[in-house]
Amino acid sequence: MGAFEGKKVIVGITGSIAAYKTCFLIRELVKAGATVKVVATSSALDFVGGITLSTLSKNEIITDLNMNHSWQNHVELGIWADLFVIAPASANTLAKAANGICDSALLAVYLSSKCPVFWAPSMDLDMWAHPATKSNIQKIISYGNHIIPVGDGELASGLHGKGRMAEVEDILQFLSQFLSK
Ligand SMILES: Cc1cc2nc3c(=O)[nH]c(=O)nc-3n(C[C@H](O)[C@H](O)[C@H](O)COP(=O)(O)O)c2cc1C
Repeated sequence: MGAFEGKKVIVGITGSIAAYKTCFLIRELVKAGATVKVVATSSALDFVGGITLSTLSKNEIITDLNMNHSWQNHVELGIWADLFVIAPASANTLAKAANGICDSALLAVYLSSKCPVFWAPSMDLDMWAHPATKSNIQKIISYGNHIIPVGDGELASGLHGKGRMAEVEDILQFLSQFLSK
């Protein structure tokens, strides 16, 4: 993955069971030579531990918990990055981003970011199929952001259908193809 060598990447994580996969994504990006900074919602930290994320990324993570102390950092981070990938992207955070809502550190970084932004949605099939989600995805695309296609298969709920977060290798492939263009 030579495409990631020397790249500055923000990895955003929201509250979805797929958050555990993001640990592998961070590890692969770091191994490939990227500098990775993680911004996690409070809900994401119910799914995966902050110590795991900071250890894998080799950087302190940014969360809503430290938001008050480093507001300026969120703006700087948005400008610093070459790439921002939000994986998993919950229906909630997608909806907020589509509408310019800024009530988490992750959304503050999103609104401040100048780099290409990639969303890897992750949700149950009915959430994914809902007209509100479809409309939010279209809005996000209209802002010039990129949507990494969801998978079709077994979901954490036990149901089958569309809505699974793309596999880590597919996310890496999607990003590296973009970078090598
Ligand atoms: C066990 C569990 C799994 C969840 N999985 C998802 C999911 O895959 N996708 C999603 O959009 N929301 C999921 N949710 C709901 C979100 O966690 C919830 O909407 C939360 O407020 C998202 O916050 P955030 O967008 O700030 O991270 C799940 C909730 C629970 C309790």
